[in-house]
Amino acid sequence: MEVTKLDQIRAAEAKLLLSTYDRNPILFVGGEGVHIIDENGERYLDLLSGIGVNALGYGHPVIEEAIARQSRALIHTSNLFFHEGQAELALRLTERTGMDRVFFANTGTEAWEGAMKLARAYAGLKRSEGVNIGTKFLALEQSFHGRTFGSVSTTYKAKYREPFAPVVPDVEFVRFNDVADLRAKFSTDVCAVLVEAIQGEGGVRPLTQEFFAEARALSSSTGALLIVDEIQAGMGRTGKWCAYQHYGIQPDVTTLAKPLAGGIPLGAILCTEEASRAIHAGMHGTTFGGGPLACAVAIAVIDHMEKENLLAHATEVGGYFQQQLCSLATRHSAIVDVRGKGLMVAAELDSADLAQLTVAEMLKRRILINCTSDKVLRFLPPYILEHSHVDTAIRALDEIFTEHAGALSSTHTATHTTGGPNHG
Ligand SMILES: Cc1ncc(COP(=O)(O)O)c(C=O)c1O
Repeated sequence: MEVTKLDQIRAAEAKLLLSTYDRNPILFVGGEGVHIIDENGERYLDLLSGIGVNALGYGHPVIEEAIARQSRALIHTSNLFFHEGQAELALRLTERTGMDRVFFANTGTEAWEGAMKLARAYAGLKRSEGVNIGTKFLALEQSFHGRTFGSVSTTYKAKYREPFAPVVPDVEFVRFNDVADLRAKFSTDVCAVLVEAIQGEGGVRPLTQEFFAEARALSSSTGALLIVDEIQAGMGRTGKWCAYQHYGIQPDVTTLAKPLAGGIPLGAILCTEEASRAIHAGMHGTTFGGGPLACAVAIAVIDHMEKENLLAHATEVGGYFQQQLCSLATRHSAIVDVRGKGLMVAAELDSADLAQLTVAEMLKRRILINCTSDKVLRFLPPYILEHSHVDTAIRALDEIFTEHAGALSSTHTATHTTGGPNHG
């Protein structure tokens, strides 16, 4: 039998890489628009966009042009010197998020890690000013903030933390959207309350207005920081630059990454002028973060999103997506909930087996989605998605549920928890 290029790569990786990933056996070599293309030239409709990264899809001329131009000029300087990109990008980000200052990192977890350090440093500053405030973090159940030590310590699932114990101490988890639990666990010991406005890996679950407002009020009452992780929901995915803007609540610190530079690694911590008082030269830093190439691409992505009105587009196409999923739910009782905001969309099924099989069946039909939180089908498509792409996905889901749902659903008479889209 012929040994394919994919076979060769799989064998080499199996020998050479740490076995962290259970990859799908597909070798991708290119992409165009919302499609990613494998070694045989097969096109896949990508409703996952590299886990919420490729905001403008594949092969976008704006990104190609920015990379070409900036790579000819300057790729890296280190943060020992100035380059043109950081202040220009920071201005765009602060104007759009209501924040005052920015620190550039490379990834999501690195931004989150820095935000946690900022919280501890700020509490230290407040203590030196006579304020009674501790070092504890309150994070939420079902949270996900990344894989480095601080991030994993504030990530709920034990399987991510336990193999690496002891993780960073002084973290307590609050039941999701449980105001009474938040009040019970909050005290002057707390230096920061950590939330995602819409939990991503936790199953596309929005905070309630009441919980978010209480987190804001409690933090303000003691000088603790409210830190919102917008790494997955931010940068326009939900139809606003940050998901917290749907609530009219302004955090003290927020973090961005994934789609920030359209596929080039870039993360950012954004904070208020007040919180920024805690950081002085030499306290935090990075070799690569905020390099000229990543900044130039991020600037081009933001300008393009604005020029093409992609936030409004995400709201419109995302609304259509949810509507179509709700209509599918009236025909298939295996769908127990449809929720999300803009192009951060989820359909919760009544069976983990069915959710897994649906992802595999979609892949056979050359449509990429994933499943998070066991039973939740998650869609994080590029912002350039059109109605016709949604229709293709819905037709495929309809076929799959018609064929398989009866056999795999946990109950054949599941009742829907929502009659329509849940806009959190
Ligand atoms: C909300 C959230 N925070 C942090 C991270 C970690 O980002 P990265 O994988 O870039 O380190 C993720 C990644 O999925 C995320 O969804």
